[in-house]
Amino acid sequence: MAKMIDGKRAAAAVIETVKAAASRLEQTKGVRTGLAVVIVGDDPASHTYVGAKGRMAKECGFNSVQHTLPAETTQDELTKLVQSLNEDPSIHGILVQLPLPKHLNSDAIIQSIRPDKDVDGLHVVNAGKLATGDLTTGLISCTPAGAMLLVRSIHGEDLSGLNAVVIGRSNLFGKPMAQLLLNANATVTTAHSRTKNLSSVARGADILVAAVGRPEMVKANWIKPGATVIDVGISRIAAPERGEGKSRLVGDVAYGEVLQNAGAITPVPGGVGPMTIAMLMANTVVAAHRTCGMILPEF
Ligand code: GUN
Repeated sequence: MAKMIDGKRAAAAVIETVKAAASRLEQTKGVRTGLAVVIVGDDPASHTYVGAKGRMAKECGFNSVQHTLPAETTQDELTKLVQSLNEDPSIHGILVQLPLPKHLNSDAIIQSIRPDKDVDGLHVVNAGKLATGDLTTGLISCTPAGAMLLVRSIHGEDLSGLNAVVIGRSNLFGKPMAQLLLNANATVTTAHSRTKNLSSVARGADILVAAVGRPEMVKANWIKPGATVIDVGISRIAAPERGEGKSRLVGDVAYGEVLQNAGAITPVPGGVGPMTIAMLMANTVVAAHRTCGMILPEF
């Protein structure tokens, strides 16, 4: 039976460090950490995520600002808002919630954020630093950074000799996750929808990270006995057993059956999810510390 990796507890520990660092920064330098979150349109899931980010920022003692723009917002209007946040010294972190409405060019917007305020770690400067092994001077994408903290809680800092398989190759998660694992000396395979014999590739993994967005796709026979399984997916599926019209959240991993033969596994919800918001707070307080040349808190 696998050990359950408690993401809520790990996230709470990160948040405690963030709160202490934010408070110290305010007391010693008079600088209040500022996070601006921008949301365009009315996608309900995005509003839920953004609301949670704002509430957590407040709980950390940050100056938390939300810009809610209508779905018809133009590229020019959004660019101008990002520009003003880039120039605002009270804002240390800027997050533009994705996906943006289809008529907007997301990449142009993301690349217009100042790299030192890019708390999502999506700017090419930050992505490039990670890709070239600089894990100290940039900002790392929050979900992979959080997933990596959970991996480290099981395996420690050095993954030498371990095979890691990441299923998914997005810029937001799969690519930075693979680079973090590689930096920690794992032997890394990035698998995706075009990979042949995906289940047998997965079976080679000592550390299996699933980020495909397909509910319960990873089955028990995909798992090397004793492997660490990190589930990044989150989907809502019908749960008629809970009553008519009821639903439940599941990950990319068939948790119930994989639990039997994995060594450690993250649940959904309560695994990687809480880590994403915690690492966003961590990136923001780090960005604020850098503006005053303070020694950075460590996560
Ligand atoms: N949408 C889903 N996840 C994320 C994230 O980590 N950052 C942003 N900006 N948008 C998202």
